[in-house]
Amino acid sequence: MLVELIYCSRSVRSFDDEDLEYLLLHTRAKNEAMNITGALIYANCQFLQVIEGERADVNRVFQSISHDARHFAVELLSYRDIVGRNFEAWHMAFVGGKGVKKLAFHESEADFNCANLNGSSALGLLMEQSQLTIPELATSAR
Ligand SMILES: Cc1cc2nc3c(=O)[nH]c(=O)nc-3n(C[C@H](O)[C@H](O)[C@H](O)COP(=O)(O)O)c2cc1C
Repeated sequence: MLVELIYCSRSVRSFDDEDLEYLLLHTRAKNEAMNITGALIYANCQFLQVIEGERADVNRVFQSISHDARHFAVELLSYRDIVGRNFEAWHMAFVGGKGVKKLAFHESEADFNCANLNGSSALGLLMEQSQLTIPELATSAR
């Protein structure tokens, strides 16, 4: 049974490109092995992530993520059964602060605030941002 989980959190400190590269390298290798797909936005010291996969795998990954000391205030925004994946091309699409500036309803990265999102607006944002990114080119955080 496929599920989709969306959460947001706050990084313990500001993540630079190197921190994000390191996080994504490890995350993508693990997700590929478990057939977990999804997308991650990092902006204004907040993470917003959608994770898709088999229920047991998604639950296990979320357990690890929620205990990860690199972030705190992990808040579940949505958890639901799905019939198909929205991010099947991605073992974790990534959008950083500069990409998020392109959003019509966020004037700058500093305005990005997960507290303003509900489950469906978060999914919309993640889908919109991952479509702005080309899978083949997104092997790094940059
Ligand atoms: C913002 C954030 C997103 C993460 N996303 C994932 C993920 O999608 N998949 C994953 O396996 N680990 C993810 N991690 C890493 C996990 O929290 C954890 O470090 C990892 O699963 C443990 O790997 P290990 O068992 O090899 O030590 C993420 C961590 C952070 C801080």
